[in-house]
Amino acid sequence: MRANTALTRSETKSIQLNHSHNANVRGILDAFGLTAGSTVSGVAYGGGFTSAPTGEALETHDPTTGEVLAYVKTAGHPDVSRVAAEAAKAFERWRLVPPPQRGEIVRRVSDAFRRRKEDLALLISLENGKILSEARGEVQEVIDICDLAVGQSRQLFGHVIASERRDHQLLEQWHPLGVVGIISAFNFPVAVPGWGWALALVCGDTIVWKPSSLTPLVSIAVQQIFHEVTGGTEAESAFSLVIGKGGVVGEALLSDTRLPLIQATGSCALGERVSVALAKRSGRAILELGGNNAVVVMADADLNLAIRAVVFGAVGTAGQRCTTTRRLILHRPIHEPFLERLIAAYRTVRIGDPLDEQTLMGPLISLDAVSEYEQGLAEIQRQGGEIIYGGKVLVDGGGYFVEPTIVRSKADMPICREELFAPILHVFAVDTLEEAIELNNAVPQGLSSALFTTNLSTTERWLSSTGSDCGIVNVNAGTSGAEIGGAFGGEKATGGGRQAGSDAWKGYMRRQTCTINYGEDLPFAQGVRFDAEQATRTRSGS
Ligand code: UN1
Repeated sequence: MRANTALTRSETKSIQLNHSHNANVRGILDAFGLTAGSTVSGVAYGGGFTSAPTGEALETHDPTTGEVLAYVKTAGHPDVSRVAAEAAKAFERWRLVPPPQRGEIVRRVSDAFRRRKEDLALLISLENGKILSEARGEVQEVIDICDLAVGQSRQLFGHVIASERRDHQLLEQWHPLGVVGIISAFNFPVAVPGWGWALALVCGDTIVWKPSSLTPLVSIAVQQIFHEVTGGTEAESAFSLVIGKGGVVGEALLSDTRLPLIQATGSCALGERVSVALAKRSGRAILELGGNNAVVVMADADLNLAIRAVVFGAVGTAGQRCTTTRRLILHRPIHEPFLERLIAAYRTVRIGDPLDEQTLMGPLISLDAVSEYEQGLAEIQRQGGEIIYGGKVLVDGGGYFVEPTIVRSKADMPICREELFAPILHVFAVDTLEEAIELNNAVPQGLSSALFTTNLSTTERWLSSTGSDCGIVNVNAGTSGAEIGGAFGGEKATGGGRQAGSDAWKGYMRRQTCTINYGEDLPFAQGVRFDAEQATRTRSGS
């Protein structure tokens, strides 16, 4: 079965696929009880999948071949409402479980991911198209965040604050928030939603997860793992799944007042819809939106490190990470030699079956993504950009393959301000660090950035308040591949949210400031005097 219609491809070049691919599909799906071409439910709550969701069925494709993998019955309005209601009920119980016991459940979930790491990595690689090593890394990332959350479950610390009033105690404490809606993207279908649910669960919240419609089978597998671990425990109903259209499921979650918090990952356009909808009902949003991440390479840099970082950052995950390196800012003295080496490195990138261990770049996620790549390149050229490597769609069967592409661009090309979710790298030359910082900061997005240098002053200037304006700022390490220990997120159009490590857990809780008076007087803060009560007491007592 072929997906959709063929693209009009202006320039094409073919690649050979490893033809054992189709033979692997059956076993990969079978590990999660799935059968190629079958129809499965995309709605789960209360510890099980519902048999007949009311939305339309969607097709999920193998991006390597374009074949349909399975059909998924999606959620309609009544399903979303039911799931939200059940999650709200589950919250009433789950918040009573002591945090370290919630952590114990997440520890078991983490163990299950360890056991199923290879099965899940294969499924991610199959449905998303990222190479196996990166898919394994993604499962490791969810294991890591679960482990962090387990430790966090014993450290949901508040504060005792010095009170200005005699015989008073001033406290800050943290309570579970409620039902957390998680809207996640196709590119990290396990790890990024995991940043949210692992922490939210130890914080005492319950989850309604709307994954990307492009990777539904991966989310069904995660839900299954959750059911296996939590069946019969107090966590059984804490985790629910609603696969479906943004216009149905997404919109319903955004306007549902039973969900005090929505964590959303996706485009800046998605972020705007989420922000407006949440603002209207005074809900909270944790947003991780587009990136337009730059690597700056100074003439004094270790160029071996820089080359490896740029190739991984720009080509890894076929350019479909939020943290992908999209702009390369080269110090003029090394501009031409660096580009020569980069092009030589790009030539060695093996493109093909993501399940083949030798492959470095798999397909894009969909035909639409291929078409955006083509249209993006056409527009780049129209605005004066010159393709110096790649630029072609690769045809093999029905797979969604393209070449990683390097473009000599001009800083004032409007398209350089946009996030093109494809392996396209804009290159610029600059004369000074100041110029490089200005260019790095001259885009609407502010997620990740990296500088390569061996100079201490250059490093400090880059990290200073007048340096990079991004949420993630690296030195001699690329823009992608962040560890979960730090807070992940970015400024400006990236949305300002922070997820994963550091104190990101606070975003999933309700903060409470408490004043306790253990004295016999009632002093007012700021020295305010208000003696009406005193007068009454004196009169009634006389
Ligand atoms: C994303 O692309 O949304 O830092 C997340 C990284 C990964 C996460 C990417 N750890 O590249």
